[in-house]
Amino acid sequence: MRKHFAHPFKRPIADHTRAAFEAVETHLRKHKRPLIFDSCCGVGDSSRLLAVEYPDHWVVGVDKSEHRLAKERAGKEPENLILVRADLNDFYRLAAAASWHVVRHYILYPNPWPKAVHLGRRWHGSPVFPDMLRLGGRLELRSNWKLYLEEFQIALGVAGHTGTLAAFKPKAYLTPFERKYAESGQPLWRLVAQL
Ligand SMILES: C[S@@+](CC[C@H](N)C(=O)[O-])C[C@H]1O[C@@H](n2cnc3c(N)ncnc32)[C@H](O)[C@@H]1O
Repeated sequence: MRKHFAHPFKRPIADHTRAAFEAVETHLRKHKRPLIFDSCCGVGDSSRLLAVEYPDHWVVGVDKSEHRLAKERAGKEPENLILVRADLNDFYRLAAAASWHVVRHYILYPNPWPKAVHLGRRWHGSPVFPDMLRLGGRLELRSNWKLYLEEFQIALGVAGHTGTLAAFKPKAYLTPFERKYAESGQPLWRLVAQL
C-alpha cells in the first residue's frame, strides 16, 4: 500500500468514465452545493435516502454496474440525486485531479475480496487509494467483514489519518446488503474517519 503513495496510478482512464465524470461536473456547476459521495452505491437506495436526508446537498452515487443502477423505481427521484455508472478506479482519479472536496463519503458494503491473493482489489490495497482519500470529508465504511475495516483502518493510519471502528446495529437499513446481513444475524461494523 505504501508504494501506491509513492507512485501515481497510471492506467489509462476509460472513455465512458471520463464522459460520465464530465456530465456530473457540468451538473454540479449549475448550483454550488456541498457534495456527498456514495461509492459502490449498488441499486442506489442509500444515495436516495441520503438525498432526502440532505436536501441542500448534492448526492452523487457511483456504481460500475449498469444492471444495478437501472433497477426500476416507483415515484419521483430527489432533484439533488445524481446516479452515475462509472468505474471508481477511474472516477476517483478524475475527481481528485479536479480538486473535488466532499463533505461526506460513504463506502457501504464494498466487495470484500476475501482471498489473500486479492488484497490489491480491496480499496485500501488498490493504487487508487490515495486519490480516494484526497476527496476528504467524513469517510464512513460499513461491512459485515471486520477484517476488511481493520485493514482499511491500518491503511488510513499509514496515510496519516485516524479511523474509529465499532460494531453497530442499524435503526433503519441504508442499503439492501445491510438489510441482508442484519436479517441473517451477522454483526455489522462501521469505520469512520474525518479526513
Ligand atoms: C456488495 S455490493 C454493495 C452495494 C450497496 N452499497 C449495498 O450495500 O447494497 C458492492 C458494489 O460495488 C460495486 N463496485 C465494485 N467495484 C467497483 C468499481 N471499481 N467501481 C464502481 N463500483 C464498483 C459493485 O458493482 C456492487 O454494486
